[in-house]
Amino acid sequence: MRETKKELKVPAIKEGTVIDHIPSRVTFKVMRILDLREFNHTVSVAINLKSKTLGKKGIIKVSNRFLTEDEVNKIAILAPNATVNIIKNYEVKEKIKVSLPDEIHNIIKCSNPNCITNNEKVKTLFHVLNKSPLQVICHHCERVMESKDITLI
Ligand code: CTP
Ligand code: ZN
Repeated sequence: MRETKKELKVPAIKEGTVIDHIPSRVTFKVMRILDLREFNHTVSVAINLKSKTLGKKGIIKVSNRFLTEDEVNKIAILAPNATVNIIKNYEVKEKIKVSLPDEIHNIIKCSNPNCITNNEKVKTLFHVLNKSPLQVICHHCERVMESKDITLI
């Protein structure tokens, strides 16, 4: 346990998941992707923390929840450099680097207003063309989008 560490801005957790190194501005979007508002245990969030590599970073600590591989990979769409720490009995047991999935199902919108997914009840699907910088292509209309074009459903 390292509660004495000076930069510990949010209380340490006993069991659960700490998502660290999130670009500050997408922190609440990551909360949305993981549906954390609906979750029954404590979730602590901090944004605008100083970070050497990100400028400002966000951090999310979720007690008593361990993410699936799918959920970890979804985080990468918004926060490609995030780290997911698994905490057990106050210790960091595992540190996972997020990694983009090859396909993104029903999480982001297509930026083409004429795309079928914006006009009919068709779920979105994107194929990842390039991971860094992020570039995805819509399965339905072939619109290519970059990070700046991405909005959540
Ligand atoms: N943490 C926590 N509760 C614990 C243990 C760790 O909330 N019981 C948090 C720490 O505050 C930190 C993250 O989990 O934000 C990762 O912990 P650690 O690996 O000890 O920190 P760093 O070495 O700073 O991580 P990194 O190298 O990934 O920046
Ligand atoms: Zn489309």
